[in-house]
Amino acid sequence: MAIFKKKQDLSIDNIVLPRHVGIIMDGNGRWAKKRGLPRSAGHSAGAKNFRKIIRYCSDIGIKHLTMYAFSTENWKRPDDEVQALMKLFKQYLEEALRDFQDDTIKLRFIGDITGFSPDIQSLMIDAQEGSKDRDGMVLNLAMNYGGRDELVMATKSIANKVKSGEIAVEDIDEKLISDSIYTAGQPDPDLIIRPSGEYRTSNFLLWQSAYAEYVIMDKLWPDFNFDDMNYALIEYAKRNRRFGGV
Ligand code: FPP
Repeated sequence: MAIFKKKQDLSIDNIVLPRHVGIIMDGNGRWAKKRGLPRSAGHSAGAKNFRKIIRYCSDIGIKHLTMYAFSTENWKRPDDEVQALMKLFKQYLEEALRDFQDDTIKLRFIGDITGFSPDIQSLMIDAQEGSKDRDGMVLNLAMNYGGRDELVMATKSIANKVKSGEIAVEDIDEKLISDSIYTAGQPDPDLIIRPSGEYRTSNFLLWQSAYAEYVIMDKLWPDFNFDDMNYALIEYAKRNRRFGGV
């Protein structure tokens, strides 16, 4: 007798959605290796999927989405891989600027943009500036981003304010720190999704993720699809968040 496994219902019609979702786009290299392709082919497939998933999140009503595209540590990768990623970023930014009229997504960059070449920096500034008045989903693209680097940046900015007398040491509290980091003014992530089966934070949103729910999935990023996104959202909706209370 055949045993039929009941397919999980992946409908998200009646669930409470997280306000802010973070995604660590991991597994491009392994996806390419499995197919005997160069790592850059995995990143191209990952960039294609990035476009699909951001549209999907915007369509289903996610208000804030943070995508980890390039970390402060990723510069250590072989030069040809870094160059391939820069080419993909440039293509995406040029495309975003070209399709500007029809879009509702508000694009923001988190990370130290001064690490990029002047042409990429200027595309980033134009894309951020040109989309700032939109009222759709806020898409934070974490590029040259590191959670520790972000906290060093915030600490220096606060220290300078103390030094100049603008604030006193006693004024330093959690709100001031939240207001001094790249995501200032945005809610903390409720849900962080990590495809590719690794159980690490990899320096992603260290301060902001204090109470985030993690969903780790055994799927490589280029294969991560709408059903996987729904699965993570349903998993999140089932969690009992206590924020340290009972
Ligand atoms: C980690 O996978 C992935 C990255 C370091 C790059 C992520 C970038 C993209 C998905 C492209 C984004 C493009 C745009 C346009 C924003 P990995 O290479 O470490 O994978 P592995 O662990 O299997 O080696």
